[in-house]
Amino acid sequence: MGRRIIRTALLSLGAGAIASKSAAVSESNRGQLRRQARQTSSSSQQQQQQGRLTESNKSPPDAIDEKSRRFFKPASHEELYLDMRELILELNVDMSMSTTMAPEPAPVQTSTPSIDCANAETCANRLLEQIFQVSERVGTTEAQSDQMSPQSKARDWIIEECDAVTPIEYCGETQLILNEQRYALAVMYFSLGGDEWNVGSNPGPDKSAGPGKWLSGLNYCDWGSEITSANGSYDQMVCDEFGNVLYLNLQSNNMVGEIPPEIGVLVYMESYISFFNAQSGPIPTTLGLLKLLETFDVESNNMEGDLFQPEYIGLDGLTNIVNFRASINNFGGTIPSDIGLWTRLQNLWFAENEITGTIPSEVGYLVDMEAFLFYTNQISGTIPTEIGNLDKLYWLDMESNQIDGTIPEELYSNLALETLVLKNNSLTGTISELVGNLNMLTSFWVSFNEITGTIPTGFNNLLSLEELELQYNLLTGVIPEEFGNLESIAFISAENNMLTGTIPSGLFSDNLPGLRILYLNNNRLTGTVPENYGRSPRLQDLWINDNFLTGTLPSITEGEFLFLEELLLQNNELTGAVDVSLCRILNTTGGNLGRLDADCQPPAGGGPPQITCNCCTTCYE
Ligand SMILES: *[C@@H]1O[C@H](CO)[C@@H](O)[C@H](O)[C@H]1NC(C)=O
Ligand SMILES: *[C@@H]1O[C@H](CO)[C@@H](O)[C@H](O)[C@H]1NC(C)=O
Ligand SMILES: *[C@@H]1O[C@H](CO)[C@@H](O)[C@H](O)[C@H]1NC(C)=O
Repeated sequence: MGRRIIRTALLSLGAGAIASKSAAVSESNRGQLRRQARQTSSSSQQQQQQGRLTESNKSPPDAIDEKSRRFFKPASHEELYLDMRELILELNVDMSMSTTMAPEPAPVQTSTPSIDCANAETCANRLLEQIFQVSERVGTTEAQSDQMSPQSKARDWIIEECDAVTPIEYCGETQLILNEQRYALAVMYFSLGGDEWNVGSNPGPDKSAGPGKWLSGLNYCDWGSEITSANGSYDQMVCDEFGNVLYLNLQSNNMVGEIPPEIGVLVYMESYISFFNAQSGPIPTTLGLLKLLETFDVESNNMEGDLFQPEYIGLDGLTNIVNFRASINNFGGTIPSDIGLWTRLQNLWFAENEITGTIPSEVGYLVDMEAFLFYTNQISGTIPTEIGNLDKLYWLDMESNQIDGTIPEELYSNLALETLVLKNNSLTGTISELVGNLNMLTSFWVSFNEITGTIPTGFNNLLSLEELELQYNLLTGVIPEEFGNLESIAFISAENNMLTGTIPSGLFSDNLPGLRILYLNNNRLTGTVPENYGRSPRLQDLWINDNFLTGTLPSITEGEFLFLEELLLQNNELTGAVDVSLCRILNTTGGNLGRLDADCQPPAGGGPPQITCNCCTTCYE
């Protein structure tokens, strides 16, 4: 059958002209998140894609079953309703497909529908007809029979607009696409507890409410406020010049409830941001209808169900997606190999969920990926070598999963890496010397694994490295002298390994001006405490307990260890006296040292203690 594609045109909707906002939505900061990401402002290049229609989108009128038809057919309007059917067929407008088409740049060719535009009954029926089409398309026809459903509330609300002082326009075929977005937004309002929203709520609703109130009589593009907060400013809703919704930013808005399938009506949407809310339920599969979607962000909600569903991850799915952020929810399921089809992806975040299965090798196709975060899930298997293809990856965090195997050599070819977190898995094998190639690294966390071998000297290239976590592994060998080159280092944690040799004096110098934390306890270190240890300018915690250190603790000079808070020495073979110069930096005498622990307890069997200490806070035998 020949069909005319409904396109958008410059038609006004309700009162007020459609505002054209070109400003990109600034995705505001999220200070509470455990880790900060660089915000990628998704440029809103409108992809003039040719949409694909599938057979299932078509709903010939004779396929409508009586049950669902009832809800759209006010008894007294039965004939009108049927007339509408005829009319629509006559116009050869396939409304069910109208919005599954991708936007077309060209202006419309409009034909004048032969309906009485002044007739409110015609208006109601035309809207009902359209809502029915929408409900069929997104699978919510059932909800239309429940008078309390968000769909029913939205339907009743929009039908009332036929009798408004400025009635809703329903005549032009280009209105169809605008009216169905209006309806879909109303469903979202009712589904997500709109009356309680921090911004945009409009209980009643009050049709005469001004801009910034949802469900007002205004053009819906004026429903969204411009929000300025300490975290930046953004528009709650942005439309294009035709009135199509491009961005919704409903972050931190006290939204409670499920995202309705009607989100799939907003086919021009490029960005749906709704982190820090209480959205529940699954991601509607109709998300797959949003072919232009670049950003989907539901972080920190209560959502559940399969995170990656075939309806939106396949070839017909969100192939334009750039940012997919779903961390801190209760999502389950596995990562399908079709993830490799999301080739524009830059941010894939699903940390703190319950995702199982393995990381498919197809992630290697995601060559634009910048941040891949999936810490705290139940992912097993190995790190695929294909991850080495991700040349733009600067942040990889897979902490607290069940990943095993070795760290693939290919990972060390991701030269943009700044944060690499492999902590708390079951990784075996060694850390390659190639780690020295990753000279952008600021954080390298490989703690709580079963890593063997020695600490590579390659680390000495990592002049940006700030945090090094090696603790709780099976590392052997010495602490490289080269650590003295790590000029940006602030945090070294290497406790609970099997390290041998001495503590390099290079760790305590002006070369490492920012070193605050040094945990070397529970190893097999020998030799004496370096004479220069007090010269570490900012050192706060020095834990060297539970080793085989010998000799006497060196004294310090005035002005040294000004920031030292914890010095743990117990369970070593140190002897002699703790010098009074250390007692002077205790927090009881004006310094900062609050913990000074040593083997200063006389043995139970009698005799002198191993160490004499007049000011230690805890004495061990
Ligand atoms: C900024 O963001 C934080 C974290 O989301 C939030 O707690 C805080 O209320 C926000 N501040 C403002 C003024 O919106
Ligand atoms: C490691 O992850 C498990 C869950 O997989 C968690 O229970 C445990 O607390 C984590 N340990 C550390 C040290 O982070
Ligand atoms: C000294 O530090 C210890 C341990 O941090 C703390 O419990 C104590 O309150 C501090 N005392 C003073 C006087 O600051």
